[in-house]
Amino acid sequence: MADITATQEWRRLASLAKAPPSMRETFERDPARAERFAIQAAGLFLDFSKNRIDDGVFAALIALARAAGVERERDRMLAGEKINVTEDRAVLHVALRDLSGRIYKVDGADVSKDVRAELARMRAFAAGVHSGERRGFSGEALDTVINIGIGGSDLGPAMAVEALRPYWLKGRRTFFVSNVDGQHLADALTQCDPARTLFVIASKTFTTQETMTNAESARSWFLAKGGKGDIGKHFIALSTNEKAVSAFGIDPNNMFRFWDWVGGRFSLWSAIGLSIVLQVGFENFERLLLGAHEMDEHFRTAPLEKNMPAILALIGVWNRNFLNINAHAVLPYDQHLSRLPAYLQQAEMESNGKHVRLDGGPVSTASCPVIFGEPGANGQHAFYQLLHQGTDVVSADFIAAARSHAKVGDHHEKLLANFLAQPEALMRGRTEEEARAELARRGLSKADIDRLTPHKVFPGERPTNSILMDVLTPETLGALIALYEHKIFCQGVVWGVNSFDQWGVELGKTLAAAILPELGALGASKPAAKGHDASTRSLIDRINKMRTNKGE
Ligand code: F6P
Repeated sequence: MADITATQEWRRLASLAKAPPSMRETFERDPARAERFAIQAAGLFLDFSKNRIDDGVFAALIALARAAGVERERDRMLAGEKINVTEDRAVLHVALRDLSGRIYKVDGADVSKDVRAELARMRAFAAGVHSGERRGFSGEALDTVINIGIGGSDLGPAMAVEALRPYWLKGRRTFFVSNVDGQHLADALTQCDPARTLFVIASKTFTTQETMTNAESARSWFLAKGGKGDIGKHFIALSTNEKAVSAFGIDPNNMFRFWDWVGGRFSLWSAIGLSIVLQVGFENFERLLLGAHEMDEHFRTAPLEKNMPAILALIGVWNRNFLNINAHAVLPYDQHLSRLPAYLQQAEMESNGKHVRLDGGPVSTASCPVIFGEPGANGQHAFYQLLHQGTDVVSADFIAAARSHAKVGDHHEKLLANFLAQPEALMRGRTEEEARAELARRGLSKADIDRLTPHKVFPGERPTNSILMDVLTPETLGALIALYEHKIFCQGVVWGVNSFDQWGVELGKTLAAAILPELGALGASKPAAKGHDASTRSLIDRINKMRTNKGE
């Protein structure tokens, strides 16, 4: 496999990065860049003009994408080729949201009709729960869902359910339990009545330790609380593993299927989305699929120069690989998108946090940056100080809707003012001259101006993207998530990694399994730990000792 850093396209960018354009200067010289470096698709508007790019850098980035084979790889993915080579799987989450009748094949077999059949089962099941046709063991309505899953079987549905709060069906509640920390499950169970609770066990493999532990404890709680053994009415599974689902005691009729060509972190569009359907209704889930599909169609057909996911990816490559930016913030100015940063942490970091290329060779450049974030304006009062004046430059995506579902005073205008002001400040910064002038206007003495000026200078030139939508609807949410999915894909192609495996999470799991028997039951003493490194041994011994103590 060719080393992307050895290409002339890469070298061209490296040479341009020696003197990256100043945003402040280019905006003064060329205000039209705001229109040129902006694009609209699937109900989203992306302004990427507040990056250290000019026409030359932009053209060189597009050339790099072509050299890396982004279009070719996109077409291979959409054609159902097994691009996930380490797991020998196709990558076809786009098929889950294509209701147009297009046929998708894996190994020559049409998978689209399976997708539609499973969607129909989800619709019918949810309709039964919503109408009260399906009830709990005592005849009560099932108005509460506890989704038990982790990673992709939790973050996607949890993020989407929160994002679609204005679309919640009246009287329905959904809890998401993911952590093997028993407090997570216990906190949810104390708020639930077993007679009205539907447990949705979401796990692609149905072997994940955290999920199976939570599922077993939920089943014990249910039976002990008078579930009368009626597991069938209260437990359903979302999985690819029918054997394990049956072994757990869930009737395959109560199992909703998806397939190995759906990656866990790309699975909210599949049966894994059933908790979304139960909370917002099937029609709204379908709208989510339609929004994502619109972005898919844009990604499939638009030339790279006008392709929003490809552009977002390439801007990220410029910042990461040529401007050496190690961290990227996701900053939704929308409280309902509060789980988006956590969702994208998995989507981006599990996909592209790789140091080995598809062919097993080492990645010769930096891959995925650290992704983090919080909703604006909260983040402004937490970590933005570092964004503005820290020693490291951090890039960021600012996301907002022009209109809010909540009509509360002038809150939304204030939120939007912050959404606009922060990228402007990050781009412009404040020069020494401006800082001095501001302090002078406030009537400070020359000595105080001299003393305070260094603290009041902002370097600026900190790159941001602004993503704007009219209002956060199921469609725009679907388009937004699909935008990021395809961005991740394009970056993976440039870096030459397999964005669809996750071997990196294996080692910790194996070591945890080895440590588990070395931890004593609460109150029981255990012999000194053996093996491991000295630090881990000493921590095991200390924890075992602490667990013999009585107290709160
Ligand atoms: O963290 C590793 C991982 O395999 C994720 O990729 C996945 O989303 C998560 O575990 C949960 O897996 P499952 O759905 O099989 O329980």
